[in-house]
Amino acid sequence: MAQKLLFVCLGNICRSPAAENIMNHLLLKENLGDRFECDSAGTGGWHIGALPDSRMRSAAQARGLTFVGSARQFQAEDLQEFDLILAMDKDNYRNILALDKEGKFADKVKMMCDYCQTYSDKEVPDPYYGGADGFNYVIDLLFDACGGLLKTLK
Ligand code: 4NP
Repeated sequence: MAQKLLFVCLGNICRSPAAENIMNHLLLKENLGDRFECDSAGTGGWHIGALPDSRMRSAAQARGLTFVGSARQFQAEDLQEFDLILAMDKDNYRNILALDKEGKFADKVKMMCDYCQTYSDKEVPDPYYGGADGFNYVIDLLFDACGGLLKTLK
């Protein structure tokens, strides 16, 4: 059965859909698409149903990638449903575990940057209120972290 990965940020329109799409890109490239299932969610519910942010989609398009998705809010059931849950920052991590009322699922919740191979960032910075550079940086950082995650999972 496919291993289920969930990427989580705040709004589910910038960082976590980027992580989901980049991970799917790497999985397809390595012919591992049938071994893993990727999804993403936001701890907040402001953007439910929205496509990834247009600035994130432009940054992706410039590298020949098309980011798809429709934002949804993280739910307590996701803790049961997914095998590995990857938080983009410490707030996301705390908000995910706040829904783990019985403290059963902490082992499957990790920080995305734990898998970085080259970058020394501890969190994926929120690009929402910044300029294009921030979106490009997030993509570079997530390529590094998704590559490391894939190596760990293989
Ligand atoms: P994300 O970025 O968590 O990477 O999707 C954000 C998206 C929306 C907001 C904040 C961050 N917001 O405040 O609406």
